[in-house]
Amino acid sequence: MAAGRDVLQAIADRFEHRFTFDEQLAGGAAIDATGTPLPDASIASCLAADAVLLGAVGGPKWSDPNAKVRPEQGLLKLRSELAVFANLRPVKVMPELVAASPLKDHLLRGVDFIVVRELTGGIYFGEKTRTANSASDLCTYHTYEIERIIRVAANLAASRRGKLCSVDKANVLETSRLWRTTVARIMREEYPGIELETLLVDAAAMHLLSRPADFDVIVTENMFGDILTDEASMLAGSLGLLPSASLGASARGLYEPIHGSAPDIAGKGIANPAAIIASCALLLRHSLMLEHEAAVVEQAITEVIREGGRTADIARGNDKVLSTTEFTDAVLRKLH
Ligand code: IPM
Ligand code: MN
Repeated sequence: MAAGRDVLQAIADRFEHRFTFDEQLAGGAAIDATGTPLPDASIASCLAADAVLLGAVGGPKWSDPNAKVRPEQGLLKLRSELAVFANLRPVKVMPELVAASPLKDHLLRGVDFIVVRELTGGIYFGEKTRTANSASDLCTYHTYEIERIIRVAANLAASRRGKLCSVDKANVLETSRLWRTTVARIMREEYPGIELETLLVDAAAMHLLSRPADFDVIVTENMFGDILTDEASMLAGSLGLLPSASLGASARGLYEPIHGSAPDIAGKGIANPAAIIASCALLLRHSLMLEHEAAVVEQAITEVIREGGRTADIARGNDKVLSTTEFTDAVLRKLH
C-alpha cells in the first residue's frame, strides 16, 4: 500500500495534480481496532471518495473457520456498498518474464486477455446457513446482474480483439443456465459483431493452460472468476503482478491487487509491489480519467522489469533480487 501511495504522489508531483488521501481501516486491522471488519467511518470515506485503493485483507490471526467476524466480510461489504459489480483483471505476459512462468515459452507468446469477473452477486452473497452437521451457501443470479456484466465485457471486447468467452457450469447449475441464455440473447441482440465462445468452467481451466493466447475477454460469475484468475496469474509469472479494477455505474472504483495478504512473507519487505502499483494505474485510468498518467505508470513498471528489476517471486537463477522498497524506488525514479 505504501508503494501505491508513493507512486500516486509521484504522479501528482510530476503532472501537477493534487490528490487528497484519506486512510481508513478495513479487514483484520479494523477488527482489532473496532471489532468490525469495515467500520462505518471507512464506508463513509470510501463513498465520498473518487476512488478507493485497497490493501489485501486476511491473515492467520483471523482465520478461525468458526469465527463469526472475518476480515473478508469487510472486503465483500465494501464491494457491495460501492456497488462495483464488474471486476476487471487483466493478464498480460511480458516477454521478459516468460521464464518466471511454469508454462512453456511457446504457449505464453502473445498472451493478453482480461477476465471480467462478476463481483457483487452469486454464491459469495447468498444466504449462508450452518448447523452442527450441515452447511449451505445459496447461489442466486438475477437476469439484470448478468446483463450488465455481459455488457461491460462485450464493450471491452469491442475495444480490443472482438472476442468474448463466457464461462459457466450450465451442465449442472441453474444459475449458469440463466447465465448462458442471457449471454446468448444480449450478444445476438446488441453485439452481433463480437465473436462469442462459451466454455464450461472445468474446460476453461484447462484451455487457460493449453491455449492462453486465444483469449481476449473472458466473462464469468463471481466464484469462477476468483478461481480462474489465480490460475491465470501463473501465465504472467506471479500473483504479485496482477492488478484489478472494480467498477460500477459511476466512475468511482475500487482498486486492489488480486493477491491476498501473503502472511507467509508478511513483514519481510520482499513482497512484489507491482500489483498495487499497476492497480494505481488502473485507478488513474478508470476513476480519475488520467489515461496518460496511467500509461506512464504502466510504462515505468515495464521498464523496471525490462531492465532486470526482479522481486523474489519473479527472480530466477542468478537474478539480483530487489526488496519491495527497492523495486518501488526504481519505479519512482522512472516517474521523476
Ligand atoms: C480476491 C480474493 C477475495 C475474493 C477474498 C479475499 C474474499 O480472493 O479478491 O480474489 O475471493 O474475492
Ligand atoms: Mn481470489
